[in-house]
Amino acid sequence: MNKTRQADLGTPASHAADTVTVEIDGLPATVKAGSSILRAARESGVDIPKLCATDSVKPFGSCRLCLVEIDGRKGYPASCTTPVEAGMKIRTQTEALSKIRRNVMELYISDHPLDCLTCSANGDCELQDMAGAVGLRDVRYGFDGENHLDAPVDTSNPYFQFDASKCIVCSRCVRACDEVQGTFALTIDGRGFQSKVSAGIGESFLDSECVSCGACIQVCPTATLMEKSIVDHGLPDHKVVTTCAYCGVGCSFQVEMKGEQVVRMTPHKDGQANHGHSCVKGRFAWGYASHRDRVMKPLIRENTSDPWREVSWDEAIGYAAKRFKEIQAEHGRKSIGGITSSRCTNEEVFVVQKLVRAAFGNNNVDTCARVCHSPTGYGLNMTLGTSAGTQPFDSVMDADVIMVIGANPTVAHPVFASQMKRRLREGAQLIVVDPREIGLVRSPHIQAAHHLPLQPGTNVPVINALAHVIVEEGLVNEDYVRERCETDSYEAWKAMILKPENSPEEVAKVSGVDAETIRAAARLFGKAKNGAIYYGLGVTEHSQGSTMVMGMANLAMATGNLGRSGVGVNPLRGQNNVQGSCDMGSFPHELAGYRSVADDSVRNQFENHWGVTLDPVPGFRIPNMFDAACAGEFKGMYIQGEDLAQSDPDTHHVEAALSSMECIVVQDLFLNETAKFAHVFLPGTSFLEKDGTFINAERRINRVRPVMKAQQGKDEWLITQELSAAMGYPMHYDNAAQIMDEIAELTPTFTNVSFTFLDEVGSVQWPCNDDAPMGTPIMHIDQFVRGKGLFVETDYEPTKERTNRKFPLLLTTGRILSQYNVGAQTRRTANNVWYGEDLLEVHPHDAETRGIRDGELVALASRKGDITLRAKITTRVKPGVVYTTFHNPETGANVVTTEYADWATDCPEYKVTAVQIAPASHRSGWQEEFAARAKQQGKIVETN
Ligand code: SF4
Ligand code: SF4
Ligand code: SF4
Ligand code: FES
Repeated sequence: MNKTRQADLGTPASHAADTVTVEIDGLPATVKAGSSILRAARESGVDIPKLCATDSVKPFGSCRLCLVEIDGRKGYPASCTTPVEAGMKIRTQTEALSKIRRNVMELYISDHPLDCLTCSANGDCELQDMAGAVGLRDVRYGFDGENHLDAPVDTSNPYFQFDASKCIVCSRCVRACDEVQGTFALTIDGRGFQSKVSAGIGESFLDSECVSCGACIQVCPTATLMEKSIVDHGLPDHKVVTTCAYCGVGCSFQVEMKGEQVVRMTPHKDGQANHGHSCVKGRFAWGYASHRDRVMKPLIRENTSDPWREVSWDEAIGYAAKRFKEIQAEHGRKSIGGITSSRCTNEEVFVVQKLVRAAFGNNNVDTCARVCHSPTGYGLNMTLGTSAGTQPFDSVMDADVIMVIGANPTVAHPVFASQMKRRLREGAQLIVVDPREIGLVRSPHIQAAHHLPLQPGTNVPVINALAHVIVEEGLVNEDYVRERCETDSYEAWKAMILKPENSPEEVAKVSGVDAETIRAAARLFGKAKNGAIYYGLGVTEHSQGSTMVMGMANLAMATGNLGRSGVGVNPLRGQNNVQGSCDMGSFPHELAGYRSVADDSVRNQFENHWGVTLDPVPGFRIPNMFDAACAGEFKGMYIQGEDLAQSDPDTHHVEAALSSMECIVVQDLFLNETAKFAHVFLPGTSFLEKDGTFINAERRINRVRPVMKAQQGKDEWLITQELSAAMGYPMHYDNAAQIMDEIAELTPTFTNVSFTFLDEVGSVQWPCNDDAPMGTPIMHIDQFVRGKGLFVETDYEPTKERTNRKFPLLLTTGRILSQYNVGAQTRRTANNVWYGEDLLEVHPHDAETRGIRDGELVALASRKGDITLRAKITTRVKPGVVYTTFHNPETGANVVTTEYADWATDCPEYKVTAVQIAPASHRSGWQEEFAARAKQQGKIVETN
């Protein structure tokens, strides 16, 4: 059997608390009540043959291979569909059973190509295993009868194929698509001998609704659904368990290797965030790690107009340190800074912030969370006392009403979306607050109870109106509020929320959501036994992002929806390690664990450990760095794995700031947009080479394990350590584990964390310390981290960005399933087949009045700049709103976004830009300049 195959217990686990004892083949077995006989047997080490059952989907009972005999029962019940009962006496191996099983297998094999020796699944095929297990030697029927051996192979999907000739119509794939993924893309067409698996209505996989999650491939017992990488390279011979490098769900994967080569990524069943499921990005889009664009040697250049020169690591690091020291000598200690990356490990991030604080001697460190979830940190800390989400993902399975605000989980957090959809199919109710009709509003077997299609920028009045109804209609959980929250703050908030301007009727005028819908949604949420809020960047990336986060926390406190399973305020974090990069002390005012640099006792602890004096004054945030650069006061930056030039708003301003600096050091896999302004390029490592940890959206610390050594010759933490030494502050780590040991020593919420501990327990959610030795899945159980919950008044202040006659539409932005963030990784994979360029969604009415046609170029102009992209005409957006993604640098979506930002954290207001659109015939001026610059950059790189 294939060495990387994961154990399969036949049917899903029972969640019953009770156990029952049965006898299997004469031996006692105690299992959970409700377990199938098949599972009970497998848990007891007895492998009953099976084909149509697998432990990730409900049993179906079609193959008749798993039959057993039970004392006192007639016939041969299927063990997969028969639950255990106390005292049952079960026989799994008898003459009669063997004969039936051989007959069943004989029928399967007579309609199966006998090409085992050349089949890509040879050695990893359950049909082959079962033929062996039942002792099938001959097929009496011959192979000349009617069969499916000439059925065509569908190779349309870039990552997997469907070879219908090998299908045994067990329907595992159909059930996985329905139950695990929730897409319902597959059906069994026809009856009896004619029955076959069909994607959509007889479409190819590529043209169907399939979202390439791979769940069907994982359950297929034959080579019918098979990864092309396995067809091309053969089966793996070993595996390493690690964590996905894409989104904040933090799925665990087995990286399956053949020698030195990765041949497959399989979601890990023991993964506590994903329970064996995945999405197209994590499972398939890993080819970027070996893409030809990856830079493998350090590069330097005097000026950004010079050609890059390949140099040794010593020369590159020495050159960077020399230029940084010269800048500090001339312009002062605070004239340089660093940016940490939410795609790097905690250990890599920790050393970069330490480099800035200890070697640069200032606090000019910030992270890309500035531009996504910094309001989450601020808002949840203010109200509840900690800068993180409150629940594990599994908590959604106990929710009765789920409110999704400014998030699109099916594209941005797909594995969590599948879990949420499972709960919704079980009967939980859904409220969606989003300007667009996101997929969740209406999908197979799911219909949102209420969709509040608000105008971009009006989150705060809408959350206030929801709270207004809850207070006005007596739906506040008074006992909870009295016991758990600060009474004065509650009274002040209540007075604010009951003001007439917060009534649904008034809010309808600004938000565009009718008052009755707001009232109905508020009643549904207010009366829920367990009401849970999930939100994303549609909440935070606003001028009142922090206000809105506090507004949601207020609502959750008022309705008593915090501190147990099924409830909570849950940020859906974008990048794989955005939680970790914040936890590690990447903000200019906070050391690891969100402790103020201005606090002497905190600073002293770090000073004693690091042997330096630290600056007590908070440093620059990213926008401050840019402003200071434009003013000639900030001259150098060390940028770890972050493409500021593409991802930050108001591109013209960002480019002006980057161009004005004297030394920019970029550490990344690829020469990204920011590298066009850089003087030193230090090649980074992919997740396949990293040793460390990522922290997902549920505060889960997951191990990241290397499957190969650093391909460019150096671990990233070591690069930073060497730069620090060259700057005059040596660090002394021998490996990443020692960095985590230091994090644990200096961060009270991480005290018990170490690589050894994580390797033992799999993963753990912080806080993990003496008070919570096995971590803390649910926060704020008996009391809030800050003690009593604080209600904060959330008066609405409209954004300064307004529509007018010249810019009458509102642009808002988001993501697509197949691409990820700035696209640096996914654009270098076959995922482009689904979405090769950013499109502008326009409502048919807005398109028609402007003469814009689907698929044609359209000019998009704001007060900040203009770009051109293709139109997609759709009713997903409402009239007056247009929408695009920001995955392609040549689109330049941020050329049009503004400088407006969240009042508390400076998180940019990406989600609201007043724009005008018109048909266009050519690309914009900025896009032409971009193309010229890209060409020049490509031409001047010396590759020796
Ligand atoms: S890859 Fe996923 S979405 Fe596509 S058919 Fe298979 S299970 Fe369904
Ligand atoms: S494709 Fe695989 S899982 Fe689906 S019915 Fe055929 S053999 Fe079973
Ligand atoms: S859901 Fe997120 S973490 Fe999981 S596989 Fe997809 S991108 Fe990776
Ligand atoms: S495995 Fe039980 S009937 Fe197929």
